[in-house]
Amino acid sequence: MCGIIGYIGSQKALPLLLEALKRLEYRGYDSAGVALLEDGQIMRFRRAGKVRELEEDVRTAATTATTGIGHTRWATHGKPTEDNAHPHVDCSGRIAVVHNGIIENYAALRDRLAAEGHTIRSETDTEVLAHLIEAHLDGDLLAAVRAAVAQAQGAFALAVLSADAPDRLIVARRGSPLVLANDGTGSLVSSDVPALLGRATDVQYLSDNEIAELTRDGFRIFDTSGRRIQRPTHQVTTDPVAIQKAGYKHYMLKEIHEQARAIGETIREKLLPSAASVSLPLVQSRIRRFDHVYLVSCGTAFHASMAAEYLWEGLLPVPIQAMIASEFRVRSPHLSSRTLVVAVSQSGETIDTLMALRHARERGAQVIALVNNEQSAIDREADASVYTRAGIEIGVAATKTFTAQIAALGLLGIHLGQAHFSLPAARAQEELERLARLPGRVIEALRASDQICEVSERIHRARDVLYLARGSLYPVALEGALKLKEISYIHAEGYPAGEMKHGPIALIDEGTPVVTLLSRGTAYDKVLANIEEVKARNGFTLVVTDAPEEPSLAHLADVVLAVPAAEGISRPILFAIPLQLLAYYIAVQRGTDVDQPRNLAKTVTVE
Ligand code: F6R
Repeated sequence: MCGIIGYIGSQKALPLLLEALKRLEYRGYDSAGVALLEDGQIMRFRRAGKVRELEEDVRTAATTATTGIGHTRWATHGKPTEDNAHPHVDCSGRIAVVHNGIIENYAALRDRLAAEGHTIRSETDTEVLAHLIEAHLDGDLLAAVRAAVAQAQGAFALAVLSADAPDRLIVARRGSPLVLANDGTGSLVSSDVPALLGRATDVQYLSDNEIAELTRDGFRIFDTSGRRIQRPTHQVTTDPVAIQKAGYKHYMLKEIHEQARAIGETIREKLLPSAASVSLPLVQSRIRRFDHVYLVSCGTAFHASMAAEYLWEGLLPVPIQAMIASEFRVRSPHLSSRTLVVAVSQSGETIDTLMALRHARERGAQVIALVNNEQSAIDREADASVYTRAGIEIGVAATKTFTAQIAALGLLGIHLGQAHFSLPAARAQEELERLARLPGRVIEALRASDQICEVSERIHRARDVLYLARGSLYPVALEGALKLKEISYIHAEGYPAGEMKHGPIALIDEGTPVVTLLSRGTAYDKVLANIEEVKARNGFTLVVTDAPEEPSLAHLADVVLAVPAAEGISRPILFAIPLQLLAYYIAVQRGTDVDQPRNLAKTVTVE
């Protein structure tokens, strides 16, 4: 979602801001802009479209400004136009603001400011902040921002530049992330670490309801009452090389191919050397006590949570439910001190998941975060955390983090099962040994890449695609359909194969592609019969299977994609890989923007 960057220092700000905005592109956006402090005035460049187009616009701009703020906008209020692009300014044009998140009471604020004589020019909620700061400004920018933020409702992050306070930038956070750093030439603020890679080695994270003042020499953080706060410094561990494409055409393809390593690293740190048990930083006395488990998450992370729901049912003696985080608070989950809630999130910043976590904690539940991003809000607010070690994921469509999530959830399930004494040691050992072999099987699964590329040519013109599976492969079918929708814009649906005859079968027409996941491990004969039903209606049958030798496939399947045979936690992971590749190659055939699909954001910080 929106990206924020700000710099105050001794170097030219414009190239630095543009470079950082490119590093934030992966978050998803539809317009971009910068504001610079030039000769006592604010100079703005904004446009709808990509950062490289903004760069083209400003190529000949004569500026030596060393202070500025920049933004990539993902439209919430108003279309993605130049007028709505950030930075926004107040009436005088001397205060510029960039903002991430939503000001929920913006309409009331706008009406009040307009009645007081302010001229609001855009449709955004952000612009009211610039005017609100103007209304409060009485010589002290920090105080004016504090007063404005106190009146704003919602979850947001903002950075403010004022022509009348040329020696500082003010930033504030409530809900949306902000990272601060000093690179020796000046101070920086960003909504994400990748924007700072190669510049800063140490960062500090702003917490909710904090405001910071950045100067050329450093930054100071304050709470709402103006008290100075000391924050720990964190080393930036991401290698700048991790944000290169390394010869791949797209980040998504690179990340699909990184899965053996991502899973290997996720597993390695949690497996004890004997490979007979799982080591996680959880308090045993607490995790032994619960009698109900919820897994809360969104999108791909929800599909990983669903896979865990299926897998954990065989490991734990308590009810387990995967729930979409945004639904969690509008339903009536059973929450008490005996409830365990696992919040699963790649970014660790998804607001729906964060709100579900807070809701659960307020009602006494114990919350474990399962995140890829250490120091993210979900990581910091949970009682304990388990990490996926997938490394940074730049492609908007999640791939390596999905399979790493299933692997980590699998280990967590074994750990919880052992803590509850419900999982026999031999069973745990068997599963852990299989997991230790998994990275090698992932490499095997990736070998089908060329075949899948050829297959994609046969279905890239489809209007609808159905994905069918049963058991722990059903969440994988959902994920395969989601991947296809996200990056190729083809309508796709995942169904439990047994449900097909209850409705979706009506969609099957001459040539409709139906991707069926067929495994010896789950309802094999029944799924085979479902394929037969599709074939009888002249659907195009693509069968992903760990039983490619099945003789009847010779006449039932138009295409067979073989997956290495595996059991337990490894099975959904191995079946996910061909579906990721299929979505990828179909999208490439259709010429879509694979890494930054339309309308999507990598980190969803609005509810
Ligand atoms: C799909 C995708 C999204 C995310 C969802 C949750 O490819 O990336 O569906 O999975 O927005 O994001 P996290 O995992 O960051 O909470």
